[in-house]
Amino acid sequence: MAAMKLLPLCISLLLTLTHSISDVELLLLKIKPSLQGTAENLLLLSWNTSVPLCQWRGLKWAFRNGSSLLCTDLSSPQWSSLFLYNDPFLQLISIQLPSANLSGTLPKEIGELASLQTLYLSVNALSGRIPLELGYSSSLSDIDLSHNLLEGTVPASIWNLCDRLVSLRIHGNNLSGTLPEPALPDASCNSLEFLDLGQNGFSGTFPEFIVGFRGLKHLDLGDNMFSGPIPETITGLKLDKLNLSHNNFSGVLPNFGESKFGAEVFEGNNEGLCGPPLKTCSVKSGLSSGAIAGLVIGLMTGAVVLVSLLIGYFQGKRKRNMDKDEDDFEDEEDEEAGNVDGKLVLFQGGEHLTLEDVLNATGQVMEKTSYGTVYKAKLADGGTIALRLLREGSCKDRSSCLTLIKQLGRIRHENLIPLRAFYQGKRGEKLLIYDYLPNKTLYDLLHESRVGKPVLNWARRHKIALGIARGLAHLHGLETPITHGNVRSKTILVDEFFVARLNEFGLDKIMVPSIADEIITQAKTDGYKAPELQKMKKCNSRTDVYAFGIVLLEILLGRRPGKSPRNGEFVDLPSLVKVAVLEETTLEVFDVELLKGVRNPMEEGLVQALKLAMGCCAPVASVRPTMDEVVRQLEESRPRNRSALYSPEETRSGSVTPF
Ligand SMILES: *[C@@H]1O[C@H](CO)[C@@H](O)[C@H](O)[C@H]1NC(C)=O
Ligand SMILES: *[C@@H]1O[C@H](CO)[C@@H](O)[C@H](O)[C@H]1NC(C)=O
Ligand SMILES: *[C@@H]1O[C@H](CO)[C@@H](O)[C@H](O)[C@H]1NC(C)=O
Ligand SMILES: *[C@@H]1O[C@H](CO)[C@@H](O)[C@H](O)[C@H]1NC(C)=O
Ligand SMILES: *[C@@H]1O[C@H](CO)[C@@H](O)[C@H](O)[C@H]1NC(C)=O
Ligand SMILES: *[C@@H]1O[C@H](CO)[C@@H](O)[C@H](O)[C@H]1NC(C)=O
Repeated sequence: MAAMKLLPLCISLLLTLTHSISDVELLLLKIKPSLQGTAENLLLLSWNTSVPLCQWRGLKWAFRNGSSLLCTDLSSPQWSSLFLYNDPFLQLISIQLPSANLSGTLPKEIGELASLQTLYLSVNALSGRIPLELGYSSSLSDIDLSHNLLEGTVPASIWNLCDRLVSLRIHGNNLSGTLPEPALPDASCNSLEFLDLGQNGFSGTFPEFIVGFRGLKHLDLGDNMFSGPIPETITGLKLDKLNLSHNNFSGVLPNFGESKFGAEVFEGNNEGLCGPPLKTCSVKSGLSSGAIAGLVIGLMTGAVVLVSLLIGYFQGKRKRNMDKDEDDFEDEEDEEAGNVDGKLVLFQGGEHLTLEDVLNATGQVMEKTSYGTVYKAKLADGGTIALRLLREGSCKDRSSCLTLIKQLGRIRHENLIPLRAFYQGKRGEKLLIYDYLPNKTLYDLLHESRVGKPVLNWARRHKIALGIARGLAHLHGLETPITHGNVRSKTILVDEFFVARLNEFGLDKIMVPSIADEIITQAKTDGYKAPELQKMKKCNSRTDVYAFGIVLLEILLGRRPGKSPRNGEFVDLPSLVKVAVLEETTLEVFDVELLKGVRNPMEEGLVQALKLAMGCCAPVASVRPTMDEVVRQLEESRPRNRSALYSPEETRSGSVTPF
């Protein structure tokens, strides 16, 4: 008999059976005594083998085959015959005993209830710790232990439940310590919608891993002792309800957008917490060096913060001989300002930056890129700088990293955004300091709505393309050549005179492999990845040429490459052109705006540019032209109608500079 019964069962069930602990037994032997504590509990009295199972209070049962035990129909044979407490096929799926006057502790055996999905024990007097074993439960998805007397820390095992957890409420206990982080750094707990940790004694900085929980709707951290800044990344969550009040948060509030949350959500924090909907942030001066370190840490957590940095940057005190030989500059680049426990390396044009003469500058997140977060920071003298905080883990090898950064700091070219300084803090935080340019990216110009933007005729697009090509050719032609590594329309800024300037060049080599791979994956999604790059893991000048080819096609076709955000379809620009050529509809692939005023695409260099772009995108790396060759060809095929660059009605500024 027994053997027949066991045959179809899996190993784990077999183990359960050999230990012969049914859920019913667990309840009676362990869970009931633990929950009720020393005093007898009225509701728990019903958990008694002389009472039909359906009358046991606060419980829901199901059979292992998935069908639930129906307790509503009093005439059902199930109901009456269920004194079968030892039926190993019967499993507990829910314990719901809110306001049940429970005064014991949470038993660790709850974790052994293999089918338990719901545990609601709010508004009781349960004391002691949350048992580690709760996290070993295999089905638990809804937990509400709010308003009890639980204390101690939350066990890290709770995040074992991450994948199926829908709600976790532990509001109003006496829990303390920092929140444990999920074991997996990228845990996204996809089902988690409700996280309520309010009214406890939790401390530490904002638990940043929470912003990875993409499905979160309600987040309550109110009335705890959390401190430090609130990370800007929190705005990435689609929260309906948020409570961060009555903690010790400081810094500038993230921008949640149009009055999404009222002041009550943030009230009762550190006086330093500011920004709408709270008071506006005041500008103080003379921060201590400790505060700077704190600020940089603040930057690292991704918040909008007060950035204190660098006096005299834009005071026009730049060296008179800015164009002097690179070698002359060598002896100055190591200037350090280091009364703070970090190191500031200055480059040409950034000589007057110091960390000592600190002014308060309000920082604001401009964008998040694969490399890190970029902040726009306003100096007290009115100047503005762009701070690029490198992602953690980048620049692991300090000495070789510094060598490369110094090399980047020496690069000066009209089409490349100059690096002015580099800050490395003791804690490993790294800031690259660039000129801030208020310009639009090429991506915006080409693909965002056109209202109020200059018409991009061929003369203008040609100038942009040539600028990009010259910038890249300069990088590739340096004595120690530099690969850009991230050529794409979003890393190219274009000013009102259609001068293109490249951003983010040379940073691929200082990233740790995992981030570098992430960047390549992104480049693939966005259609800029050269076909061979996957294997090499390292960018080189040929992969730059490929990416440039895609950018040039983007300019000519006015179309976004890569995966479309709208329908997820992948647009391969080179294939589009190939198809058009085969179907002899080549002229139709060009952006209509581009063709304005072009009489003969052959004479105007349009078709040549298309051919050149296709050459850059050749699948075989060795047949792609060099950037020098690209520059030469673009210069040869200039549009004839140069006046179209600045025809008055199409120019916002009306200024004219020579082409
Ligand atoms: C179950 O209930 C009966 C009478 O209702 C009582 O005598 C018995 O002690 C109870 N058993 C337990 C384990 O509570
Ligand atoms: C599941 O098992 C129970 C008892 O073992 C039985 O009464 C019920 O009919 C079964 N349901 C299904 C859908 O097989
Ligand atoms: C709650 O439990 C306590 C013992 O812990 C008992 O004295 C009290 O009468 C119970 N209250 C209710 C309403 O059951
Ligand atoms: C909360 O826990 C702390 C120890 O962590 C203890 O000192 C304090 O008395 C507890 N408060 C309550 C209300 O139980
Ligand atoms: C936020 O939480 C605090 C403390 O738990 C509470 O007093 C307050 O009413 C809550 N505010 C909102 C807006 O939910
Ligand atoms: C709040 O944080 C500040 C630092 O930002 C610290 O000086 C202060 O002691 C903290 N206050 C409490 C009550 O923890």
